[in-house]
Amino acid sequence: MKRVISVKNLYKLYRVGDSVVHALDGVSFDIFEGEFCAIVGTSGSGKSTLLNMLAGLEKPTRGEVVVAGRHIEKMNEDELVKFRRENVGFIFQSFHLIGTMNALENVAMPLMFKGEPLKSRMKKAEQMLALVDLKKHRKHLPNQMSGGQQQRVGVARALVADPKIIFADEPTGNLDSHTSEDVMHLMQRIVREQKRTLVMVTHDNHLAGYADRVFHISDGKIIRVEENRPAAGEYRKKEAGPEESGKKNEGGDRHEAD
Ligand SMILES: Nc1ncnc2c1ncn2[C@@H]1O[C@H](COP(=O)(O)OP(=O)(O)OP(=O)(O)O)[C@@H](O)[C@H]1O
Ligand SMILES: [Mg+2]
Repeated sequence: MKRVISVKNLYKLYRVGDSVVHALDGVSFDIFEGEFCAIVGTSGSGKSTLLNMLAGLEKPTRGEVVVAGRHIEKMNEDELVKFRRENVGFIFQSFHLIGTMNALENVAMPLMFKGEPLKSRMKKAEQMLALVDLKKHRKHLPNQMSGGQQQRVGVARALVADPKIIFADEPTGNLDSHTSEDVMHLMQRIVREQKRTLVMVTHDNHLAGYADRVFHISDGKIIRVEENRPAAGEYRKKEAGPEESGKKNEGGDRHEAD
């Protein structure tokens, strides 16, 4: 399996007045192509700090972050901007849609930054909206859509530029539980069908159960890694069966029993 993200001995210290906060305290792990990984932990455990390091939004105090074969901790701001544009899609808790643009235009946005011609931008955005089942809402402005629909636009926008990796920080944090499940099913299906790598941060153990692997973080340390999906070979066989995609992994609730 191809390694897409590799983190080694990662530390992030914040100095606040006289004290030092160990937001990340020696974190190491690998994430492989096509995996859906969740980082789960309570408030203040270091989830967003970790995701920010993986996306190159913040520099680590110490340690390595290799994403798509590149040491991003060594990149300067210009290199990082280019790297993110070419390799990474983001899904945000508060959707971050542009209020004056309709669904289609919002989805097409990342392609504008890539300098793609209008016609091909619109064509790709149409395809992505179809993928998230929002074809009929293409002309709707964000305030003319439900929260779940807006986040599906957010998912489509994260995918439109064909990134290898998608980062999501509490993507369902602003949605009710039923709508959250819908969005999780959608993300799970897309990762599987399109062989993307998705890293999602959440404080919710149940939602983390949708992921193939769950990294439990506490006080800046990964304290446990939970496997929710059979080994790759077995998974391929299982995947061939009907109904498999879009269905919640049965192993997802295992942790609740222990
Ligand atoms: N810029 C900063 N300066 C100082 N301390 C910070 C800073 N950013 C984060 N921290 C501290 O680092 C720790 C980890 O914060 P982080 O935002 O990663 O937590 P989180 O797991 O994402 O929490 P939440 O679920 O509330 O979003 C916390 O103790 C927080 O107070
Ligand atoms: Mg956070």
